[in-house]
Amino acid sequence: TPADRVQADDLLAMQAGNLVNLPENYTQKLWMYHLLSWPQISFVAEDAKGRIVGYVLAKITDPDDDEDGAGNRDGPGATHGHINSLSVFRTYRRLGLAKKLMLQSRASSCSPHRLWLTNASREHAMATVYRAEYVSLHVRKSNAAALGLYRDALGFDVEKVVAGYYADKEDAYSMKLSLAP
Ligand code: ACO
Repeated sequence: TPADRVQADDLLAMQAGNLVNLPENYTQKLWMYHLLSWPQISFVAEDAKGRIVGYVLAKITDPDDDEDGAGNRDGPGATHGHINSLSVFRTYRRLGLAKKLMLQSRASSCSPHRLWLTNASREHAMATVYRAEYVSLHVRKSNAAALGLYRDALGFDVEKVVAGYYADKEDAYSMKLSLAP
């Protein structure tokens, strides 16, 4: 149904949230590219009036991609999901929204872009739709909230430190979560 598809106003609101919540911002073209290429794995959280208060933007990464810009390849067969951007508006934090968005990105759904219509315990979309073996992301070393979410609440492991990954030269943790059953 049309409600299952990403719509232009979702895109603008996601991008607006990104501008408010994070210093890492992207062009509209890149947002559109992600949502058109991998529509099953990006999600929004809305308030009761339908305003977007959080989002997760994800992609599927090819084994040959140089994801951390350091010349490292993941090697053959390592198609995986990558969380590009996740944020929740400040007044909606600590309500479990980011955790649900992250779980939803992995979860299969017949109505993939409306958080509450789906059940996070279903099959993993990244694994089933794209045969992703794991999900990866980068996070600032100083980002205690996101680290709490990824490491403590979702079980990601720190794979390595990427020195000077961000534009202001802060180091990133490169994190991974296996999607193996
Ligand atoms: N301190 C410690 N642990 C935290 C914190 C925090 N501030 N926030 C969340 N957690 C952990 C807790 O274990 C929490 O469970 P609990 O509330 O039962 O203790 C669990 O994560 C789930 O928290 P949520 O409520 O789902 O997280 P929230 O919706 O508040 O969103 C987020 C977390 C996305 C990091 C939010 O703080 C935010 O938008 N920050 C600014 C943007 C940002 O840093 N995004 C991540 C960048 S990295 C990337 O995009 C790949």
